[in-house]
Amino acid sequence: MRAPSAEIAVISGRGKTGTAVVSALADLGVGARALGRAERADPGTDLRGCRAVYLMAPNMAPDEPDLVREVLAAARSAGVTRVVYHSVAAPYAPLMPHHVNKAVAEDLVRRSGTDWTILQPCAYVQNVIPGLQGEDPGIDVAYDLDAPFGLVDVADVAQAAATVLTRAEHIGATYELGGPDLVGMRDVAAIAQEVLSRPVRARRIGAWAWAAGAGAGLDPREQEWLLAMFAYYDRYGLPARPRTLSGLLGRPPRDVREVLARELDPGPGHHRE
Ligand SMILES: NC(=O)c1ccc[n+]([C@@H]2O[C@H](COP(=O)([O-])OP(=O)(O)OC[C@H]3O[C@@H](n4cnc5c(N)ncnc54)[C@H](OP(=O)(O)O)[C@@H]3O)[C@@H](O)[C@H]2O)c1
Repeated sequence: MRAPSAEIAVISGRGKTGTAVVSALADLGVGARALGRAERADPGTDLRGCRAVYLMAPNMAPDEPDLVREVLAAARSAGVTRVVYHSVAAPYAPLMPHHVNKAVAEDLVRRSGTDWTILQPCAYVQNVIPGLQGEDPGIDVAYDLDAPFGLVDVADVAQAAATVLTRAEHIGATYELGGPDLVGMRDVAAIAQEVLSRPVRARRIGAWAWAAGAGAGLDPREQEWLLAMFAYYDRYGLPARPRTLSGLLGRPPRDVREVLARELDPGPGHHRE
């Protein structure tokens, strides 16, 4: 039988970040309730008995402020007073609609009357993994290969999330979470090449080539938002620094090499042809 009072509800809990947060909470011995699409209709019922909510929208959600409003209302009616909101580094970047949605949502969280904390993670190292797993590993991006990013390990972000969810001293704080180094995609490909011991391509592709290729299956709104993000990344990257995350973890965050080595480890018994 589960012990509901010990549980933390993780909204969008079965995606890339949500599964990492659930697992980081399990490492602390804290139970988590992952909520997804099916539970959105009645989050009030699903939040009942939870001691906190990890509030996160799915990637590129068209309606993030609405989702955040819904969950805050449901938390209120379920008597849940502790909320940690998963935002992004540089939320108020008006050239990127999905960032601005998070800036709006941050304001809703701060004015919600809950005991809130806000996390602002940079882009994850894990975003490059799918391109590195095939027979022809590479990083193909529609922006400057040398634009600076504070790429962060999603497992480190999740560990920080579990820490702030379980300790009252973080109530009222907003934390930007960056990895240890500022890196461009050219650097990341060079590190991946060393980790994989095989050539790894770093290639800048045109925005319209991306739209006709990797982005072709997306709905027009998502395509437009991603193109806006690439245009922003091209000029400004997404820098973020590690000091706050180090403080939360009690150690330096993992660097790109450590994360790629862990994520791309073929495991014992694997032989590359
Ligand atoms: N990727 C990055 O580098 C990065 C960096 C910083 C911040 N972030 C932010 O991190 C957050 C999580 O990203 P992610 O890629 O981990 O998420 P994700 O994989 O897109 O999330 C999937 C989860 O969202 C649920 N979901 C999908 N559509 C939904 C809907 N319409 N209503 C309610 N729930 C819905 C899914 O439900 P089911 O369980 O029913 O499938 C699933 O549990 C996003 O807000 C993103 O902006 C990402």
